[in-house]
Amino acid sequence: MNVCDSFWLEKALKLRGWESVSEKEADVFLVNTCSVREKPEQKVYSLLGRIRPYINKKKHAFVGVGGCVAQQVGESLWERFPEVRLVFGTDGLVYVPNALEHLAEEPKRRISLLEFAESYPEREKLWTKVSLPSQAYVNIMQGCNNFCAYCVVPFTRGRQKSRISYAVLEECHELVQGGVREITLLGQNVNSYGQDPFGDGVSFSELLSKVCQISGLARVHFTTSHPKDISREVIEAYGRYSNLCPHLHLPLQSGSNKVLGNMGRKYTREIYLDIVRQLRSVRPEISISTDIIVGFPGETYKDFLQTLDVMQRVRFDWSYSFKYSDRPFVRAAKFPDKLSEDVKSIRLQALQRLQEAMTLKSMQGLLNKEVTVLVEGPSSWNNGSYPLWRGRETGGRVVNFNWFGNENIEGALIKVKVTQAKKHSLFGEGVKFYDS
Ligand code: 5AD
Ligand code: SF4
Repeated sequence: MNVCDSFWLEKALKLRGWESVSEKEADVFLVNTCSVREKPEQKVYSLLGRIRPYINKKKHAFVGVGGCVAQQVGESLWERFPEVRLVFGTDGLVYVPNALEHLAEEPKRRISLLEFAESYPEREKLWTKVSLPSQAYVNIMQGCNNFCAYCVVPFTRGRQKSRISYAVLEECHELVQGGVREITLLGQNVNSYGQDPFGDGVSFSELLSKVCQISGLARVHFTTSHPKDISREVIEAYGRYSNLCPHLHLPLQSGSNKVLGNMGRKYTREIYLDIVRQLRSVRPEISISTDIIVGFPGETYKDFLQTLDVMQRVRFDWSYSFKYSDRPFVRAAKFPDKLSEDVKSIRLQALQRLQEAMTLKSMQGLLNKEVTVLVEGPSSWNNGSYPLWRGRETGGRVVNFNWFGNENIEGALIKVKVTQAKKHSLFGEGVKFYDS
């Protein structure tokens, strides 16, 4: 969601005449931040420290800090970093282009845009004014109402506010007319889309099916899903729409029912496993990825083994795993039985080792098969003989491949025969254009 927000801001500023330049040349630095775990938050402070020397060399240079750290720490950021003259939360993003113009004209001024909006903060329509890449994100909601015990998001992104379906569909149609071939619908918990006072009666499954029916749209993804809210209709959509990509990111967080209960996740390991079973019965090739937290307060070794057990039963294609860290305002920060860093590290390592083996196996399952790749650009790998391109297959895995022609195939859909499976990506030979 931050990447999507940054894209929008970059486009909005360019349309107003701002230019993106190197650190040495910059008069304004904009930092979009994440505070979901302790580590990304610390990265923000060290980045601000690294920017300072560039600021000190220029008379009117300044910094704007946006996103969840700004929302969480607020105006006290400019006490610690006086070069920060703008703070904006996720709902404040829409006002940033105007604010920057004011700040550039009035060097003594500071602006704070931290208020939560009353409804989904609709953004200036930029996608009809710029040239578009082949892949785009579309926001369908803002915020979250779930208050999982470890999570700071409801405090930094506010309560759930669904965007009206007409605006979502209009954006998707216009993106496709502008040449976009893949759309990812974005929200903190897309499956509860529409279930808040700002919804317009359209459910997520209805919205998804309308998006999948847009003619000319080759690929649809959505993220993120909460297992407690994924409906039978959404699962069935995987069987109904061939352009709904066979991939689902479904955060598990823990495989122990006790820990899931303490996290306030409102599902059990059995419910999770049943969702996976249903998904695979409607779309056998579906890839499933997940998020897992190790070392949640009170997690015993037995609980941890339960997590490994669910991982093995599901055979996740890939996963993102994190050591639990206390976040401000969250309930779990006050829970007893915190685990030591050492124990968390050992568990994380064991889990990641298991995942690596499963990921490799899932990659190897595609060896000698043909996959369809949406080309994102030239690959950073180079074997000299042919141009090497990079993209993703429908299941979301990165594919690097040789292409016999010299034409620019960025944005094209290409059939690729997989010849090699590495730890994090596949390698192959381009066979033909998918469309032809
Ligand atoms: N500690 C560790 N991981 C966390 N996540 C969210 N909050 C915390 C926390 N306090 C993880 C969850 C979530 C992902 C985006 O970050 O796994 O799905
Ligand atoms: Fe955080 Fe839970 Fe909301 Fe996800 S569903 S953003 S983990 S509170």
